[in-house]
Amino acid sequence: MAHTSLVVGLQFPGAHSTLAPAGPQSSLVMAGLWAPMYAIAAVTFALVVGALVWALLRRRTAGDVLDDPARARRMGWTVGIATALTAAVLFVCLVLDISVGRAVAAAPGNPAVRIRVTGHQWWWEVQYLDSLPQLQATTANEIHVPVGRPVVVELRSADVIHSFWPPNLVGKRDLIPGEVNSLRFQVDRAGVYRGQCAEYCGQQHAKMAFTVVAEPADRFAEWLAAQRDGAAAPADSLARRGLEVFLGSSCVLCHTIAGTPAGGRAGPDLTHLASRRTIAAGTRPNIRGNLAGWIVDPQALKPGARMPPNDLSPADLRALVAYLETLR
Ligand code: CUA
Repeated sequence: MAHTSLVVGLQFPGAHSTLAPAGPQSSLVMAGLWAPMYAIAAVTFALVVGALVWALLRRRTAGDVLDDPARARRMGWTVGIATALTAAVLFVCLVLDISVGRAVAAAPGNPAVRIRVTGHQWWWEVQYLDSLPQLQATTANEIHVPVGRPVVVELRSADVIHSFWPPNLVGKRDLIPGEVNSLRFQVDRAGVYRGQCAEYCGQQHAKMAFTVVAEPADRFAEWLAAQRDGAAAPADSLARRGLEVFLGSSCVLCHTIAGTPAGGRAGPDLTHLASRRTIAAGTRPNIRGNLAGWIVDPQALKPGARMPPNDLSPADLRALVAYLETLR
């Protein structure tokens, strides 16, 4: 399925769909669960509608049946057999479900990378874990993985229940406050895949999306190395002014920019904001106009979002956006 879909103004290669699997786990779900269950449901539907039409054409009343003991017995048998068939079909679905679930969860070898994903209302905190603290990296709403290697995603929640679901890559799994879940998957086809929170988690549940970028191992390593670095120092006077605006406004209370005094943890880490494809958890493409509009009035784009409006002068806003655009 090589069609493209237009989702929240962004072009994603391949549909945001379970039916376009891009790795072994999603292929298992498609071939082992979706296809047979679709076939079973289609046959069941055809049989039920056929039986309904047949019964309507026969035009029997309840009295016709009850007055005739032989007919009543036949109907009793028919109902019994239909009930047993229903139970058998559901049992087949249960067996399929359990066997595919086990196959998906089976360890696909040594994971190349461990990623901690923490759900927040309404964005995704993404941390690349490493036993050496200086090799950890934090980003938001965009997950990079190397192609053809298994990855482990550790799922946590900072507030309510969310659900992590990149349909082309693996089935969904909940992020539950006070619990740690994990999910393993592998992406075999390089590309950009959309993921979505799949558990209603409040007003902006629908605008809680993320992007999974699957890329060759060397490009992934380059990306991760860049994410581990602190932010680039502002190179010109406009960007320097922008950093001052950032540090002098309420931005600094919620956001981190590594290498500057900004260390807030309530909102997404902005150290490499300009390297990301979207803002506001997949709500808009990360381009200058969207970024400026989001800073000034986040509530217009995402009502209920935890980010307050920022009443900046046009000159301050221009400097701030210029600075943020240097955070590659
Ligand atoms: Cu988070 Cu729905």
